[in-house]
Amino acid sequence: MPRPTIPELQARATRGEPLVMLTAYDSTFARLAEAAGIDFLLVGDSVGMTLLGHPSTVPVTMDDMLHHTRAVVRATLNAHVICDLPFMSYHGGEDDAVRNAGRAMQEAGAQSVKFEGGARWASFVTRCTDAGIPVMAHIGLRPQQSSLLGGYPAQGRTAEAAQRILDDALALEAAGAWALLLEKMPLEVAKAITERVNIPTIGIGSGPHCSGQVQVMHDVLGLDERFRPRHSARYADLAATVRDAFAAYARDVRAATFPTDAQSVRGGERLEGFPERDT
Ligand code: KIV
Repeated sequence: MPRPTIPELQARATRGEPLVMLTAYDSTFARLAEAAGIDFLLVGDSVGMTLLGHPSTVPVTMDDMLHHTRAVVRATLNAHVICDLPFMSYHGGEDDAVRNAGRAMQEAGAQSVKFEGGARWASFVTRCTDAGIPVMAHIGLRPQQSSLLGGYPAQGRTAEAAQRILDDALALEAAGAWALLLEKMPLEVAKAITERVNIPTIGIGSGPHCSGQVQVMHDVLGLDERFRPRHSARYADLAATVRDAFAAYARDVRAATFPTDAQSVRGGERLEGFPERDT
């Protein structure tokens, strides 16, 4: 099955088939996510926190995003891969912004890009769309604004704030966005947006009425015990599993129970599986 196209994904949302999106940052997990039937893989700028050890997404660069997107694209055949545009990659002028969006497709092989912004970004969306760069627009809570917001508060909790998000949604759809990501807003607001627009809405922390859902892979897998957002769904406790495996390995090396004969080669033997290698 080839990677789903934008019209296919939009048609599925229109038919009421929920779309499943998950973040991925490397080839190992991208391959597993694809094998599990995930529709889209978002190479999110959350890579700054999940993999790179930064305190927020702000330090993530365009080069970081290209590097991780390439790894995800290389490992997959059937998933639609979206590259997140990081902080400052689309704020230094529209020409520069469109060029960076194009790099995600041309240099990393992404099928579309995502950026954080509202109605004021309509002309950027139109220019990308005209250039053949499909854009998912991320509205509601925009984590790249965390310094201004003083953290990651829910958005759209008053009637005026909710109306502003709805206006953003309508303006971005009119500008050509092929989908909207709705982060951390009241479920009534996400429902109203989903009912008003004709493009898919992908929610995170925005309730069940969106066309699909996205989660951060590390939250779903329970890979970071220090962090459990309220909106996340934890389907595994890999932090404990991985720590136990590492500890067992360390124990075996220290006890000299690894490697055994089975994992060792004697002189004159060839290494099974690597016949051409002279070890
Ligand atoms: O970067 C990211 O992981 C995101 C989430 C909202 C899914 O944008």
